[in-house]
Amino acid sequence: MTVTIIVGGFFGDEGKGKIISYLAQKDMPSIIARAGVGPNAGHTVYKDGKKYGLRMIPCGFVNESSKLFIGAGVLIDIERFLYEVELTETEGRIFLDKRCGVIEQRHKDLDAGDSFLKKTVGTTGSGCGPANAERASRKLKLAKDFPELKKFIIDVPLELNSAIEKKQEILVEASQGFGLSLFYGSYPFVTSKDTTASMAITDLGIGPTRVTEVNVVYKAYLTRVGEGEMVGRITEDNVAKYDYWNDLLKKADEKGIQGSANEKIAFYLGEKGTVTGRPRRVGNFDFSLAKYSSMLNGATQLSITCMDRLFPECYKITEKKKLSERAKRYIEKIETELKTKVTLISTGPESQDTIDLRK
Ligand code: GTP
Ligand code: IMP
Ligand code: MG
Repeated sequence: MTVTIIVGGFFGDEGKGKIISYLAQKDMPSIIARAGVGPNAGHTVYKDGKKYGLRMIPCGFVNESSKLFIGAGVLIDIERFLYEVELTETEGRIFLDKRCGVIEQRHKDLDAGDSFLKKTVGTTGSGCGPANAERASRKLKLAKDFPELKKFIIDVPLELNSAIEKKQEILVEASQGFGLSLFYGSYPFVTSKDTTASMAITDLGIGPTRVTEVNVVYKAYLTRVGEGEMVGRITEDNVAKYDYWNDLLKKADEKGIQGSANEKIAFYLGEKGTVTGRPRRVGNFDFSLAKYSSMLNGATQLSITCMDRLFPECYKITEKKKLSERAKRYIEKIETELKTKVTLISTGPESQDTIDLRK
């Protein structure tokens, strides 16, 4: 029985939602617990062929027998939370901690329009930054102060630690990604909290000695939404150097997509923000950032997603030996550089499109 943390190694949108939905169905966790900042996250998951864009409810909801928890470190947008409870039909098995901070309209207003956060940092506008600032100034209202949340409230650390004692399987969903960490990311173009595995267990009230696996998720290439530096960005000058980027550019041209090389590829791949709809920038797998983020997360294993987008011949493949030679070499290079095994390879958006190399 394990306590496994799923955490993002780049700038968010690594496809954690997809990896979590696979593990939720394969490993049948008793509890799936959401950590991370709050409704600034946008995870995409499929259940019975239907697509869900989730900002509050754990992606693991796809397993109907799992209990779903939201930790005290996660900010709640009550309207969005209630909407998603209805959408996912999870009332009765979704619970949140009494100490979750609550986002109100004034926090969203401070995160919008011409504000420094929206304009300069390029935030998601979900009110998370202003709410966390208010929490630090000890003025924020918590979940226990809102009667409409009463039926969802539990003591998350108590329930989680008692399940760990009973040797039940626990899956922890972090959100955002390493490069957006308030402490370790590209400040000031970051979110309002740390985003490593250590923060995820703090969000939930689990001690570090209880964690068995940390699976750091990387997309096969880099994407970033919002402002801030991005090493290895694809440009008109370097795109021809990489066969896979060149192929994608040609396909975008055939479809008549307009813009810079970067914009064409991003549009062709459908790379736009789940929360904001803003276009994402695309770039090469950043080995330096990946090594650093796997180190700070204490990675015990890695996941690589969207292999089929970079290497279309890999679409929906479920056995490693059937991957193309160039795709196998790509995975091997990541394992060598990061000195950690890639245990999950994602070859399509649906949970079954996964190569599982765990023992
Ligand atoms: P954040 O909390 O924002 O980090 O979300 P996330 O990591 O869950 O990723 P998000 O859902 O924002 O974006 C990933 C997109 O890629 C979604 O549209 C997924 O359906 C899709 N996706 C994930 N894995 C794969 C894959 O292996 N192949 C393909 N083609 N699409 C994938
Ligand atoms: P905030 O978290 O809304 O304050 O936004 C701060 C920065 O983090 C911005 O660059 C956002 O685009 C980015 N960000 C926050 N959450 C996510 C996410 O889930 N995926 C990708 N980017 C995110
Ligand atoms: Mg996302």
